Amino acid sequence: MNIKIKYAKKRYDDKIVLDVENIDIKSNNIYAVVGMNGSGKSTLINGMAGVEEFSECSITYDGKQFEEVKDNISLMLQNFYIFNDTVRNNILLPVKYSKKKIDFQKNLEKYMKFFNLEPLLDKNARKLSGGEKTKTALLRALIRNTDLVILDEPTNNMDVDGIKAVEELIMYLKEEGKTVILITHNIMQVERTADYVLFIDKGRVVECVERKNIKNIFDNLSLKEILKVL
Ligand SMILES: Nc1ncnc2c1ncn2[C@@H]1O[C@H](COP(=O)(O)OP(=O)(O)OP(=O)(O)O)[C@@H](O)[C@H]1O
Ligand SMILES: [Mg+2]
Repeated sequence: MNIKIKYAKKRYDDKIVLDVENIDIKSNNIYAVVGMNGSGKSTLINGMAGVEEFSECSITYDGKQFEEVKDNISLMLQNFYIFNDTVRNNILLPVKYSKKKIDFQKNLEKYMKFFNLEPLLDKNARKLSGGEKTKTALLRALIRNTDLVILDEPTNNMDVDGIKAVEELIMYLKEEGKTVILITHNIMQVERTADYVLFIDKGRVVECVERKNIKNIFDNLSLKEILKVL
């Protein structure tokens, strides 16, 4: 999905926390969104995914308005909610709210292969470990098999195997033709997965560069300044 953000602003009372313009997301690429705590990353992607409203914005998705494409956008929230129900029902939750007919069983099997969640499907999701809950939230975001997948820190709480599985899954989503937006603080993850890197600082886009053009991510001045890579 191609996304054109002409401008997007978010204000809380009279404080502007996001003020971006001219962001061009090109279809079938992986975009890493990086920046310090409080820089506005979640505000930006929550607005793009329609779970929060911008104060002002002009955005098109494949040339269309959000309402026309919302069935083709999914988001894994940074502060996702786990319901007092089975892991399976937690993953399948979005199916209830989708107008599109979804072969959720097929999607579940396809994406679950990346993790070892199958033995846990009938367990109460509140009794899972932190990393297992993150995997549940991630699968929930994938169950509708949308063209645009937005993931807000999807490897939080995960061990090395979990991180590897998520990164393989992200690469697989790209192979499937999807567009992925990934918020992460893990700079190695940016190196391993991203096609483009969008740097956000104090609510503004500092740079959006092709990752292969960042000669050495640790020598990149913007990255050093933003992420305090020492
Ligand atoms: N409901 C709210 N009311 C007031 N201010 C808010 C609210 N939600 C977010 N903010 C402010 O907006 C700014 C951007 O927050 P946001 O969650 O987008 O940051 P972030 O880049 O995702 O940070 P992190 O890396 O910690 O997740 C912060 O200063 C935050 O305090
Ligand atoms: Mg955030």
